[in-house]
Amino acid sequence: PADITGDLTEVLLSEAQIHERIAELCREIERDYEGRELLLVGVLKGAVMVMADVSRELRRHIEMDWMAVSSYGAGTQSSGVVRILKDLDSDLTGRDVLIIEDIIDSGLTLSWLRENLSSRGAATVEICALLRKPEAAKVDVDVKYVGFEIPNHFVVGYGLDYAERYRNLRAVGILAPHVYS
Ligand code: PRP
Ligand code: MN
Ligand code: MG
Repeated sequence: PADITGDLTEVLLSEAQIHERIAELCREIERDYEGRELLLVGVLKGAVMVMADVSRELRRHIEMDWMAVSSYGAGTQSSGVVRILKDLDSDLTGRDVLIIEDIIDSGLTLSWLRENLSSRGAATVEICALLRKPEAAKVDVDVKYVGFEIPNHFVVGYGLDYAERYRNLRAVGILAPHVYS
């Protein structure tokens, strides 16, 4: 199968739409953090594309760090209990932290992560997520920078995977049912 975009039923967000929106968010971030140091924390692996594009779009100094987390609990449902697979290298004391994510689904990962990073003495912890699925929310997460609100479909691309594939698509699309059924 040469063209993996054939596995999508629909392109929800094109590469151009994503980049235009990221540029808008970055202008807001530049304004909001003017005169302050900024630490971007990417959540592996989904956030790699958002991190790459947000960090390069920002016309200012930033630092970059990464965490990998995994929800564990019974079955496929995220339990809200999160385990750290790879921790930050940075000390967060007094830092202004902006968590970079690809998507907020149930909200359980980010609500746990914000608490966890705040408890390490960060001065501020805010969230920037490219996508949010309001219909899937189980907990309310206050997200300062949201790229797009999308309907509750199985989406892949631009960092988002199905069984570790499709992260390398430049667009975000709805995965065709024949792929997973
Ligand atoms: C996905 C996504 C978010 C999280 C959102 O990550 O990248 O990090 O789930 O889900 P939630 O709002 O219901 O908690 P995943 O655990 O699939 O790991 P990955 O980033 O490595 O794909
Ligand atoms: Mn993720
Ligand atoms: Mg995933």
